[in-house]
Amino acid sequence: MVQLRLPRNSRMSVGKTWPKPEGATNLKTFRIYRWNPEDGANPRIDTYFVDLDTCGPMILDALIKIKNEIDPTLAFRRSCREGICGSCSMNIDGVNALACITGIDEVKGDVRIYPLPHMPVIKDLVPDLSHFFGQHASVRPWLETHTNAPEKEWRQSIDDRRKLDGLYECILCACCSTACPSYWWNGDRYLGPAALLHAYRWIADSRDEATGERLDDLEDPFKLYRCHTIMNCAKVCPKGLNPAKAIMDIRRLMLERVV
Ligand code: SF4
Ligand code: SF4
Ligand code: FES
Repeated sequence: MVQLRLPRNSRMSVGKTWPKPEGATNLKTFRIYRWNPEDGANPRIDTYFVDLDTCGPMILDALIKIKNEIDPTLAFRRSCREGICGSCSMNIDGVNALACITGIDEVKGDVRIYPLPHMPVIKDLVPDLSHFFGQHASVRPWLETHTNAPEKEWRQSIDDRRKLDGLYECILCACCSTACPSYWWNGDRYLGPAALLHAYRWIADSRDEATGERLDDLEDPFKLYRCHTIMNCAKVCPKGLNPAKAIMDIRRLMLERVV
């Protein structure tokens, strides 16, 4: 086994290589970021060998197998296992993705898994998304109306409902925002692609009566205008959404109300 050598000024520790499962012939190597704030040690990359003959096909299956059979201290989030809850987002082979819908066979060679980039880490693959969700809440992601509520329901034509396609499907996994260079550098003030997509989802809703206030809130040099259309957000979104387009649509509305 080759011992990993680190530069002298590295802030990583040398990780642990776990034993190979006995008798397994179809092994895949997983190199996984580990950090525990309670042990005082630097982060490290641990190496695990997973027997693919006794493992499900997805990256999340391998993580669950590692936790159940090799190392119960490994921490990661997951819930639905169907790409719906958004909780298993992480950086897999250099790309932000959902572990439950990323096939192990999509990664050639060793599988390298890190937490979502540029977020504080709570433990191992679990990022602290408090700021991300705070930004989502700041766009008031709910219907706002001023007129009296209708007797039955707020109605919407089929055509107006269609305008929400490509917006309402967001599962708030944070893959897009944590892949956005503008968000990396200005995430404290730039809302980022996910929160802005949600902002536009309510701006575009024909039933909402707070469009002016919503646009006023976004009229800020940092909240909206840090997007440089690098398009990383659209490339990584596991739901196939295009936050950059939503951001451009908000900018277009801003311009339309000026002219
Ligand atoms: S298009 Fe805008 S929001 Fe999307 S990754 Fe690029 S800078 Fe970020
Ligand atoms: S837009 Fe896509 S990548 Fe971004 S939070 Fe929503 S589902 Fe995740
Ligand atoms: S576990 Fe829910 S999206 Fe992966």
